[in-house]
Amino acid sequence: MLSSLPDPDEHALAISRQLVDVIRAEIEAGDGWLDFERFMELALYSPGLGYYSGGSVKLGPEGDFVTAPEISTLFGEVIASQLSQLLAPIGRPVVLELGAGSGRLAETILTSLDAAGYRLPDYRILETSADLRERQQSRLAPFAERVSWLERLPGEGFEGVVLANEVLDAIPVTRFSRDNGRICSLGVGIVDGSFDWKEKPAEPGLAAHVAALEADLGFQFPDGHRSEICRQMPAWISSLSDVLERGAMWLIDYGLVEREYYHPSRSDGTLICHYRHRAHSDPFLHPGLQDISAWVDFSACARAAHGAGFSVAGFTTQGQFLIEGGATELLQREDGSVDLARAQALKTLVLPGEMGERFKVLLLTRGTEHSLPGRDLRDRL
Ligand SMILES: C[S@@+](CC[C@H](N)C(=O)[O-])C[C@H]1O[C@@H](n2cnc3c(N)ncnc32)[C@H](O)[C@@H]1O
Repeated sequence: MLSSLPDPDEHALAISRQLVDVIRAEIEAGDGWLDFERFMELALYSPGLGYYSGGSVKLGPEGDFVTAPEISTLFGEVIASQLSQLLAPIGRPVVLELGAGSGRLAETILTSLDAAGYRLPDYRILETSADLRERQQSRLAPFAERVSWLERLPGEGFEGVVLANEVLDAIPVTRFSRDNGRICSLGVGIVDGSFDWKEKPAEPGLAAHVAALEADLGFQFPDGHRSEICRQMPAWISSLSDVLERGAMWLIDYGLVEREYYHPSRSDGTLICHYRHRAHSDPFLHPGLQDISAWVDFSACARAAHGAGFSVAGFTTQGQFLIEGGATELLQREDGSVDLARAQALKTLVLPGEMGERFKVLLLTRGTEHSLPGRDLRDRL
């Protein structure tokens, strides 16, 4: 399948070769082995060279993948209607969007709230990619006096809502395996001049983490099983909990609950790469030119959120959230007819075989009460 992927141009390949040299130097400094989490960090975020740090178009038809806000404004319109209910009791509410991509979700939310007569005064964006930040600034120019970009999380005492759509899947993950009964760490080495998987016995912290996971699941992973753990996620959620004094956080992403995520049949884990709208499983292809992500373990997120002082106020599928949140009613034009193009896009967002069940919505709250539209699936977490 990989042979059918389109070739990058010479300029892109030259950037990728520079990144390969950076990664190769780290592998050599590590006696021929580099932790996969570090590889993913470099491939996505290495300054000027990583996928999110470089200047290529990432989202949309000319990029590598599309996200829900890019597919239809219906996604942002439903979020906006939820926001207006949640923000109303807060004096000077703030929305903080993490990883805002092309800025499309922010644009839809601000436009919809304005149309509903609710003028949101303060929309902030925290974006690690300088390139995406520039694209966001250009798209959001009409809202310039209300939108600002942060270099880091705001100080304590923030009241409002935090939004993160498809951000958790972009946090670098650790890969592990069970090999001949041992728990191993799956890293990156060089085989015949190219990057390849290389195993070594897991360091004590990882071995303990996997052993605790197996105890929780009630079984030991079969020999050869490979999967991922997002070890940065708890600190990420905790840092947001430190900031949010009153309000809510929406985490939306493709993901599963723990017993599905680590089901023995998912024997090669959930790592997924996107290059020019082709999904595949080779993270070593053209480093820096393709997206690398992993599905989200929502049970782990809920545990981390609970431990960080959040209430887990809702968990449902994207399909349920959008339908019960009123997306179908939004298809109607003023004359009563149905907008067929929007109806088609809604199918992509909500049908089980499309994004409807793969994507989940986790709502965390602190100092306020709110629930999610859609079937409450918290008992599955
Ligand atoms: C898959 S894109 C999703 C973009 C957008 N939310 C959307 O739905 O179209 C991931 C985004 O997260 C950003 N990102 C990754 N890690 C981040 C972090 N720790 N904090 C803030 N943004 C981050 C990336 O630069 C990118 O904008």
